[in-house]
Amino acid sequence: MNIGSACVLVTGGGSGIGRALVDRLVGDGAQVCVLELDPARCADLVEASGGRVKAWGCDVSDPDAVDAALQAMLDAGYKPDVLINNAGIIHSEPLVNMLSRGDRVHSRESWRRVMSADLDSVFYVTGRVVDNMLARRCKGVVISISSISANGNAGQSAYSAAKAGVNALTRTWAKELGAFGLRFAAIAPGFIDTPSTRAALSESAVDRLQKQIPLRRLGDVESIYLSVRHVVENDYLTGVVLEVDGGLVI
Ligand SMILES: NC(=O)c1ccc[n+]([C@@H]2O[C@H](COP(=O)([O-])OP(=O)(O)OC[C@H]3O[C@@H](n4cnc5c(N)ncnc54)[C@H](O)[C@@H]3O)[C@@H](O)[C@H]2O)c1
Repeated sequence: MNIGSACVLVTGGGSGIGRALVDRLVGDGAQVCVLELDPARCADLVEASGGRVKAWGCDVSDPDAVDAALQAMLDAGYKPDVLINNAGIIHSEPLVNMLSRGDRVHSRESWRRVMSADLDSVFYVTGRVVDNMLARRCKGVVISISSISANGNAGQSAYSAAKAGVNALTRTWAKELGAFGLRFAAIAPGFIDTPSTRAALSESAVDRLQKQIPLRRLGDVESIYLSVRHVVENDYLTGVVLEVDGGLVI
């Protein structure tokens, strides 16, 4: 599929990786639709795009909100050929916090919140979008932004489990729907230089991390866009998890 002639739906296009994808996709000629918790975050991209970026406010972890926003998008005449499940939250918390004086066990509320934002959302959005692709006989592509934490990362129970679930869904759907020409891939970044990474890591933690990464630097958002373009344009690629991590293996 040629990325420049595609209609691409990006979730969480207001910041970090999602925002960079929207910007690069529109630069390459795509029509872009965004579902975003806070659409004001990408209002400038919408305004500058001359109609080629449209955004709807939506919490993708809420199934009713997903159904309503996708219906509004279809009613407005936008039919995605490519879905990028990008929206998500990064969360670190040990299973048992031995330094805590209160309840030492991982909060159930934060477990549910992370599973809901990072895994349930992928299930809700992909089901509806793929149903529409099938009805149109569209040979669409679904890319989900996973993480190398899916391999198991100490201190990230909920996040690692959610992203491992995303990888499993990617392989499951590739097998289930390949006969209809639909393709599925996950892109698993390592540490990418985005606002959420900078908020999660101190300057000294970034310095330590860079020494462990074989390429000795955080990744840039462009490396994720290049992987997205590769998946979209290579029609024989499906069921894969592409790790984009500068060689850092967890
Ligand atoms: N930054 C990294 O190093 C890194 C590494 C591995 C994986 N990832 C994954 O990449 C994705 C994007 O990460 P980022 O660093 O760009 O994050 P970010 O916080 O900079 O941006 C995330 C965007 O998604 C939106 N969003 C969050 N929850 C949402 C919801 N429920 N509904 C709709 N929109 C929602 C936010 O408003 C924000 O605009 C996430 O899935 C994250 O897990 C990031």
